[in-house]
Amino acid sequence: MKDVIKKARELALDEIKEFGTPPVALFEVSLEQGQVLAEACGADKDIVTLGTILMDVKLGEAKSLGKKDEHIKMSADASEVFLKDLDVDDGVIHQVLQCVNEHHGTKKFGSIEAEICANADCYRFLRPDILMVFITGLTDGGMELNDAVKFVLKKMEEKHKTLSLPKAIKDLRTHYATMKEFLENGVLKNENAQYYKWTTYKQIINKKTSKIVYFNERELWWMHIGLNVGHEQNGHGDKFLRPVLILKRINRHLFVGIPQTSKDKIDHEYYYKYKHNTRQLILLLLQIRVFSSARLHEKLGMLNKEDFIKVKERVKKWL
Ligand SMILES: [Fe+2]
Repeated sequence: MKDVIKKARELALDEIKEFGTPPVALFEVSLEQGQVLAEACGADKDIVTLGTILMDVKLGEAKSLGKKDEHIKMSADASEVFLKDLDVDDGVIHQVLQCVNEHHGTKKFGSIEAEICANADCYRFLRPDILMVFITGLTDGGMELNDAVKFVLKKMEEKHKTLSLPKAIKDLRTHYATMKEFLENGVLKNENAQYYKWTTYKQIINKKTSKIVYFNERELWWMHIGLNVGHEQNGHGDKFLRPVLILKRINRHLFVGIPQTSKDKIDHEYYYKYKHNTRQLILLLLQIRVFSSARLHEKLGMLNKEDFIKVKERVKKWL
């Protein structure tokens, strides 16, 4: 059985590597918690191990084909072929397939091992540390943070209803209530939650520091300026964006930038007003600072030469 488990694990990790889902942390937590629950319930640990390893083995492929709802059937079919190829006993195959087929819960579980797998799956969506990995994975994949949080809340609801084993309920009930409150009222409604959102988004941007972004002086870019402190300039929307002028390229990673606004300001030496078509725009010279090129999102255009020279002169004089 050890060899079968080893090969099943290799298969599942290969699938994760190829399709990028579920995140390894989520895969590992079900595996680990399945064993804890099997011990507590006196169940067959090998069946639970194979069940937790194989229950979502085709989740990534199903998602890539736009057939996420079919991942249980696809995982069961692939598990059957895999286990038969290794000449695993028919009785064991039947039990493992029961685990795979019932891992999203059912009114009546076919075995305690299947019930354990379904409960072990709930840890992926109800344990706070794993939830954070899940949310980051979704936003990393391009989902807006609010949408990711709403999606996670839906999954939490579904998994909370699936919980049936006393130990799993005891482990996760408080986490469910706390995380639901935090995500619903803390993240989606509360103003302060913008800081949480920006911190989450900042981690995503920080991963881009290895990618080279080509930029030049005088260019205007949409930039992830973020959510900052006090009167420092902030960005808007889920991506915390604001236009910024690239005043001075320091190297390929850093530049000196000046944030821009369209909100009217009083006449002062630290506001540079200029016209773009018929629109008045204002460069906030007082908000000048060094930025990482990883913050650059999308090029907007170029400031005309005449204005650029005047901005530089104004900055030199003012500073
Ligand atoms: Fe699943």
